[in-house]
Amino acid sequence: TGDVTLDTGFVNTASCSSAITFIDGDKGILRYRGYPIEQLAEHSNFLETTYLLIYGKLPTAQEFAAFDAKVRRHTLLHEDLKLFFNGFPRDAHPMPVLSSAVSALSTFYQDSLDPFDPDQVEISTFRLLAKLPTIAAYAYKKSVGQPFLYPDNSLSVTENFLRMTFGFPAEPYELDPVVVKGLDLLLLLHADHEQNCSTSTVRLVGSSQANMFASISAGINALFGPLHGGANQQVLEMLGALHSSGEDPQAFMTKIKNKETNQRLMGFGHRVYKNYDPRASIIKATADEILGKLGADDPLLEIAKRLEEIALADDYFVERRLYPNVDFYTGLIYKAMGFPTRMFTVLFALGRLPGWIAQWREMINDPATKIGRPRQVYIGEAARDYIAMTDR
Ligand code: CMC
Repeated sequence: TGDVTLDTGFVNTASCSSAITFIDGDKGILRYRGYPIEQLAEHSNFLETTYLLIYGKLPTAQEFAAFDAKVRRHTLLHEDLKLFFNGFPRDAHPMPVLSSAVSALSTFYQDSLDPFDPDQVEISTFRLLAKLPTIAAYAYKKSVGQPFLYPDNSLSVTENFLRMTFGFPAEPYELDPVVVKGLDLLLLLHADHEQNCSTSTVRLVGSSQANMFASISAGINALFGPLHGGANQQVLEMLGALHSSGEDPQAFMTKIKNKETNQRLMGFGHRVYKNYDPRASIIKATADEILGKLGADDPLLEIAKRLEEIALADDYFVERRLYPNVDFYTGLIYKAMGFPTRMFTVLFALGRLPGWIAQWREMINDPATKIGRPRQVYIGEAARDYIAMTDR
């Protein structure tokens, strides 16, 4: 095995070629299909960016209308899939519910599982884009004991998700344009991030020619981890704990950098971004605006800003080039929108879905794709002879 190179955590190993997302971690650049994230954040919307990621170009008005109509048509869940939610404990975290329901889609849609049939891939794409928000809303409804709402296909994906999450069948739901716009922007900012842990998982599972539902279900489980998408929940829990204990942020930071605790400063640091995370810059700029418009005067925002201030002036964080990442401020915005902490990572999954789909499709269509099968450096015993139990 002398011919392999050890690269724990794939720090230097590219696993594929991709034309979807470009990141320059030193310069803080992120582009989807060549378009800077700042321009997309300002001018595009989540659904248009979804189209861009999957098909590689911005849609014309006609293409966008057809795409939007197709996504809207598939929002209903099979009535039997709705029963599925009853099988989970009331206090189930919505992330494993989400991944289980997505995995179960391959039992309901056995007509669209062939990765090499472009029509089947296309219909699976629409089923996933349309149904994930419905599944996510039902996971929430189940956890609070409220009735499920059928989707209303006169609404956009983002609007429909908000209504199914916060609305009640007995009364009309009034959409707040600030929430709709803010959530749409956050979903867009999460839409792809090249070969991160969950996307690599989607590709690795898919490289065995597993279907798209199975591959993306695996990606959702990878995203759940606290060092990946789970960080947005952990950030808010960390800020909440600091607030309720009244601990001095400076003392908390000293404990972290002296490694007196296992805790990291959640929402800080990134494998690729070493100067700043351009998504975090956009989010920080909009956090004040959105929180202001929603009338949310959250003491946790002050704590977050204080932690950031301390970190940016502290050698430990500066030397290690640790800056706020996308998750640092998102939780505060989600909270102001009314989402419980446990839904934060689900929102990340909704945002990342177009990226997972685009990357899975690129992988399946790439003639260079082989089954993912990393090597290892063996460090165990050399060959030795079996010893009879009586002689041990
Ligand atoms: N707080 C304190 N120390 C940190 C942090 C942090 N958030 N992040 C990294 N470090 C330290 C780490 O202890 C190590 O120090 P030392 O050299 O003394 O052992 C050094 O910085 C390098 O860290 P690493 O773990 O080798 O870096 P990595 O590239 O493997 O990890 C990371 C990247 C994002 C997992 C890590 O920075 C981290 O755990 N951050 C907190 C969790 C988080 O916010 N995750 C969300 C990431 S962005 C969105 C997403 O991907 O979902």
